[in-house]
Amino acid sequence: MATESDSAQEFYGRWARLYDLIARRTPGIARLRKRAAAACRLEPGDTVVEMGCGTGANLPFLRERVGPAGTVIGIDFTRPVLERARAATAAYDNVHVLQGDATQPPVRAALEDDEGVPGTDDDGVDAVLATFVVGMLEDSAGAVDDWCDLVGSDGTVVLANAARSREWYAPPVNAVFRAIVVLSTPPTMQLRYESDPHIRLDEKIDAAHARLRERAVAVADETHIFGVVRLTGGRLD
Ligand SMILES: C[S@@+](CC[C@H](N)C(=O)[O-])C[C@H]1O[C@@H](n2cnc3c(N)ncnc32)[C@H](O)[C@@H]1O
Repeated sequence: MATESDSAQEFYGRWARLYDLIARRTPGIARLRKRAAAACRLEPGDTVVEMGCGTGANLPFLRERVGPAGTVIGIDFTRPVLERARAATAAYDNVHVLQGDATQPPVRAALEDDEGVPGTDDDGVDAVLATFVVGMLEDSAGAVDDWCDLVGSDGTVVLANAARSREWYAPPVNAVFRAIVVLSTPPTMQLRYESDPHIRLDEKIDAAHARLRERAVAVADETHIFGVVRLTGGRLD
Protein backbone atom coordinates (compact mmCIF):
# COMPACT_ATOMS: atom_id res chain seq x y z
CA MET A 1 0.00 0.00 0.00
CA ALA A 2 1.24 3.50 -0.87
CA THR A 3 2.51 5.49 2.13
CA GLU A 4 1.94 9.21 2.74
CA SER A 5 5.50 9.83 1.63
CA ASP A 6 4.92 7.89 -1.66
CA SER A 7 1.82 9.99 -2.34
CA ALA A 8 3.67 13.25 -1.63
CA GLN A 9 6.50 12.29 -4.01
CA GLU A 10 4.05 11.23 -6.71
CA PHE A 11 2.06 14.46 -6.29
CA TYR A 12 4.99 16.92 -6.30
CA GLY A 13 6.74 14.92 -9.02
CA ARG A 14 3.73 15.22 -11.31
CA TRP A 15 3.15 18.91 -10.57
CA ALA A 16 6.79 20.06 -10.36
CA ARG A 17 6.53 22.60 -13.18
CA LEU A 18 3.29 24.17 -11.90
CA TYR A 19 4.56 24.14 -8.33
CA ASP A 20 7.72 25.92 -9.44
CA LEU A 21 5.64 28.69 -10.99
CA ILE A 22 3.56 29.12 -7.83
CA ALA A 23 6.67 28.95 -5.64
CA ARG A 24 8.37 31.78 -7.53
CA ARG A 25 5.51 33.94 -8.81
CA THR A 26 2.85 34.11 -6.06
CA PRO A 27 2.49 37.79 -5.12
CA GLY A 28 4.52 38.54 -2.00
CA ILE A 29 6.39 35.22 -2.05
CA ALA A 30 9.81 36.56 -3.11
CA ARG A 31 9.72 39.05 -0.24
CA LEU A 32 8.83 36.26 2.18
CA ARG A 33 11.69 34.07 0.92
CA LYS A 34 14.16 36.91 1.26
CA ARG A 35 12.94 37.57 4.79
CA ALA A 36 13.16 33.86 5.70
CA ALA A 37 16.77 33.75 4.45
CA ALA A 38 17.59 36.87 6.50
CA ALA A 39 16.04 35.28 9.62
CA CYS A 40 18.60 32.44 9.30
CA ARG A 41 21.22 34.93 10.64
CA LEU A 42 23.88 33.69 8.22
CA GLU A 43 27.37 35.09 7.86
CA PRO A 44 29.57 34.79 4.78
CA GLY A 45 31.19 31.34 4.81
CA ASP A 46 28.39 29.67 6.81
CA THR A 47 26.64 26.40 6.00
CA VAL A 48 22.84 26.33 5.68
CA VAL A 49 20.53 23.40 4.97
CA GLU A 50 17.08 23.75 3.47
CA MET A 51 14.79 20.82 4.31
CA GLY A 52 12.22 19.98 1.61
CA CYS A 53 13.74 22.54 -0.77
CA GLY A 54 11.35 21.63 -3.61
CA THR A 55 12.22 23.37 -6.87
CA GLY A 56 14.81 25.54 -5.09
CA ALA A 57 13.04 28.90 -4.88
CA ASN A 58 14.82 29.76 -1.58
CA LEU A 59 18.29 28.62 -2.63
CA PRO A 60 19.43 31.85 -4.39
CA PHE A 61 18.45 33.91 -1.32
CA LEU A 62 20.45 31.58 0.93
CA ARG A 63 23.41 31.65 -1.46
CA GLU A 64 23.33 35.45 -1.35
CA ARG A 65 23.64 35.30 2.47
CA VAL A 66 26.53 32.82 2.73
CA GLY A 67 28.43 34.18 -0.27
CA PRO A 68 30.87 32.27 -2.45
CA ALA A 69 32.79 30.87 0.55
CA GLY A 70 29.67 29.42 2.20
CA THR A 71 27.70 26.24 1.53
CA VAL A 72 24.01 25.78 0.76
CA ILE A 73 22.51 22.28 0.87
CA GLY A 74 18.96 21.64 -0.34
CA ILE A 75 17.31 18.32 0.53
CA ASP A 76 14.11 16.89 -0.93
CA PHE A 77 12.82 13.40 -1.56
CA THR A 78 11.05 14.09 -4.89
CA ARG A 79 13.33 13.62 -7.89
CA PRO A 80 11.55 15.83 -10.49
CA VAL A 81 11.51 18.87 -8.17
CA LEU A 82 15.18 18.28 -7.36
CA GLU A 83 16.04 18.27 -11.04
CA ARG A 84 14.46 21.72 -11.32
CA ALA A 85 16.35 22.90 -8.23
CA ARG A 86 19.62 21.58 -9.69
CA ALA A 87 19.01 23.30 -13.04
CA ALA A 88 18.10 26.59 -11.32
CA THR A 89 21.31 26.62 -9.23
CA ALA A 90 23.73 25.08 -11.75
CA ALA A 91 25.70 28.33 -11.92
CA TYR A 92 26.72 28.08 -8.23
CA ASP A 93 29.30 25.47 -7.28
CA ASN A 94 28.58 25.89 -3.57
CA VAL A 95 24.84 25.07 -3.79
CA HIS A 96 24.25 21.32 -3.49
CA VAL A 97 20.93 19.60 -4.00
CA LEU A 98 20.62 16.15 -2.44
CA GLN A 99 17.89 13.56 -2.59
CA GLY A 100 16.92 12.50 0.91
CA ASP A 101 14.35 12.52 3.68
CA ALA A 102 14.07 15.73 5.69
CA THR A 103 13.37 13.65 8.80
CA GLN A 104 16.66 11.77 8.32
CA PRO A 105 18.70 14.31 6.38
CA PRO A 106 21.90 12.97 4.81
CA VAL A 107 23.78 16.07 5.98
CA ARG A 108 26.51 14.84 8.29
CA ALA A 109 27.57 12.20 5.77
CA ALA A 110 27.60 14.81 3.00
CA LEU A 111 29.71 17.24 5.02
CA GLU A 112 32.17 14.55 6.07
CA ASP A 113 32.44 13.16 2.55
CA ASP A 114 34.43 15.47 0.33
CA GLU A 115 32.90 13.83 -2.70
CA GLY A 116 29.35 14.53 -1.45
CA VAL A 117 29.74 18.28 -0.85
CA PRO A 118 33.12 19.43 -2.10
CA GLY A 119 34.90 22.35 -0.52
CA THR A 120 33.38 22.11 2.97
CA ASP A 121 35.12 21.32 6.20
CA ASP A 122 33.21 19.57 8.94
CA ASP A 123 32.44 22.47 11.21
CA GLY A 124 28.73 21.75 11.13
CA VAL A 125 25.50 23.39 10.09
CA ASP A 126 24.80 27.00 11.09
CA ALA A 127 21.13 27.18 10.11
CA VAL A 128 18.20 25.08 8.91
CA LEU A 129 15.34 26.52 6.87
CA ALA A 130 12.07 24.71 6.10
CA THR A 131 9.34 26.51 4.16
CA PHE A 132 5.92 24.90 3.50
CA VAL A 133 7.19 21.47 4.57
CA VAL A 134 6.40 20.61 8.21
CA GLY A 135 2.68 20.22 7.46
CA MET A 136 3.65 17.16 5.40
CA LEU A 137 5.65 15.42 8.13
CA GLU A 138 4.01 12.80 10.35
CA ASP A 139 5.78 14.07 13.49
CA SER A 140 6.40 17.74 12.70
CA ALA A 141 7.50 18.68 16.23
CA GLY A 142 9.90 15.72 16.33
CA ALA A 143 11.46 16.90 13.05
CA VAL A 144 11.96 20.38 14.52
CA ASP A 145 13.68 18.78 17.52
CA ASP A 146 16.06 16.94 15.21
CA TRP A 147 16.81 20.11 13.22
CA CYS A 148 17.52 22.01 16.46
CA ASP A 149 19.93 19.24 17.46
CA LEU A 150 21.56 19.40 14.04
CA VAL A 151 22.39 23.13 14.26
CA GLY A 152 23.28 22.94 17.97
CA SER A 153 24.22 25.80 20.24
CA ASP A 154 24.02 29.24 18.59
CA GLY A 155 22.56 27.74 15.40
CA THR A 156 19.28 28.97 13.90
CA VAL A 157 16.15 27.18 12.71
CA VAL A 158 13.55 29.02 10.61
CA LEU A 159 10.09 27.79 9.63
CA ALA A 160 7.57 29.40 7.28
CA ASN A 161 4.16 27.88 6.69
CA ALA A 162 0.76 28.75 5.35
CA ALA A 163 -1.99 28.23 7.90
CA ARG A 164 -5.36 29.81 8.59
CA SER A 165 -5.16 33.56 9.10
CA ARG A 166 -6.03 35.03 12.50
CA GLU A 167 -6.45 38.58 11.17
CA TRP A 168 -9.78 40.46 11.46
CA TYR A 169 -10.35 39.96 7.72
CA ALA A 170 -9.68 36.22 8.10
CA PRO A 171 -12.98 34.58 6.95
CA PRO A 172 -12.70 35.22 3.16
CA VAL A 173 -8.91 34.69 3.22
CA ASN A 174 -9.38 31.42 5.10
CA ALA A 175 -12.09 30.24 2.70
CA VAL A 176 -9.72 30.73 -0.26
CA PHE A 177 -6.88 29.14 1.71
CA ARG A 178 -9.00 26.09 2.56
CA ALA A 179 -9.81 25.56 -1.13
CA ILE A 180 -6.11 25.81 -2.06
CA VAL A 181 -5.13 23.31 0.64
CA VAL A 182 -7.80 20.80 -0.36
CA LEU A 183 -6.67 21.02 -3.99
CA SER A 184 -2.95 20.96 -3.29
CA THR A 185 -2.80 18.26 -0.60
CA PRO A 186 -1.55 14.91 -1.86
CA PRO A 187 -4.59 12.62 -1.85
CA THR A 188 -3.63 10.23 0.90
CA MET A 189 -6.25 8.22 2.71
CA GLN A 190 -5.34 9.81 6.01
CA LEU A 191 -5.49 13.43 4.93
CA ARG A 192 -8.54 13.16 2.69
CA TYR A 193 -10.83 10.97 4.72
CA GLU A 194 -9.84 10.80 8.36
CA SER A 195 -9.86 14.51 9.05
CA ASP A 196 -10.34 17.78 7.25
CA PRO A 197 -7.00 18.38 5.47
CA HIS A 198 -6.59 22.00 6.41
CA ILE A 199 -7.26 21.28 10.10
CA ARG A 200 -4.76 18.41 10.16
CA LEU A 201 -2.26 20.66 8.38
CA ASP A 202 -2.84 23.45 10.88
CA GLU A 203 -2.27 21.05 13.80
CA LYS A 204 1.07 19.90 12.41
CA ILE A 205 2.16 23.46 11.68
CA ASP A 206 1.09 24.68 15.14
CA ALA A 207 3.00 21.81 16.78
CA ALA A 208 6.18 22.55 14.78
CA HIS A 209 6.19 26.30 15.42
CA ALA A 210 5.35 25.75 19.11
CA ARG A 211 8.24 23.31 19.49
CA LEU A 212 10.66 25.79 17.90
CA ARG A 213 9.48 28.51 20.30
CA GLU A 214 10.03 26.12 23.23
CA ARG A 215 13.50 25.10 22.11
CA ALA A 216 14.94 28.42 20.90
CA VAL A 217 15.13 32.14 21.57
CA ALA A 218 12.93 33.98 19.06
CA VAL A 219 14.73 35.80 16.25
CA ALA A 220 11.64 36.13 14.04
CA ASP A 221 7.93 35.85 14.80
CA GLU A 222 5.81 37.42 12.09
CA THR A 223 3.08 36.85 9.52
CA HIS A 224 3.12 37.55 5.79
CA ILE A 225 0.76 37.49 2.80
CA PHE A 226 -2.55 38.56 4.48
CA GLY A 227 -1.60 36.80 7.69
CA VAL A 228 -1.69 33.40 5.97
CA VAL A 229 2.05 32.71 6.18
CA ARG A 230 3.69 32.38 9.60
CA LEU A 231 7.42 32.88 9.89
CA THR A 232 9.13 31.70 13.09
CA GLY A 233 12.88 31.81 13.61
CA GLY A 234 14.75 30.65 16.68
CA ARG A 235 18.37 30.71 17.89
CA LEU A 236 19.45 27.73 19.99
CA ASP A 237 21.03 28.51 23.37
C1 LIG B 1 5.04 22.57 -0.62
S1 LIG B 1 6.60 22.02 -1.21
C2 LIG B 1 7.71 23.33 -0.59
C3 LIG B 1 8.98 23.42 -1.36
C4 LIG B 1 9.91 24.56 -0.95
N1 LIG B 1 10.34 24.45 0.43
C5 LIG B 1 9.29 25.91 -1.19
O1 LIG B 1 9.21 26.73 -0.27
O2 LIG B 1 8.87 26.18 -2.33
C6 LIG B 1 6.96 20.69 -0.14
C7 LIG B 1 8.20 19.94 -0.55
O3 LIG B 1 8.59 19.14 0.56
C8 LIG B 1 9.06 17.90 0.05
N2 LIG B 1 8.96 16.95 1.17
C9 LIG B 1 7.86 16.62 1.89
N3 LIG B 1 8.18 15.76 2.86
C10 LIG B 1 9.51 15.51 2.73
C11 LIG B 1 10.42 14.68 3.43
N4 LIG B 1 10.04 13.90 4.46
N5 LIG B 1 11.70 14.68 3.04
C12 LIG B 1 12.12 15.42 2.00
N6 LIG B 1 11.30 16.22 1.29
C13 LIG B 1 10.01 16.28 1.66
C14 LIG B 1 8.17 17.61 -1.15
O4 LIG B 1 8.81 16.71 -2.05
C15 LIG B 1 8.01 19.01 -1.75
O5 LIG B 1 9.01 19.27 -2.70
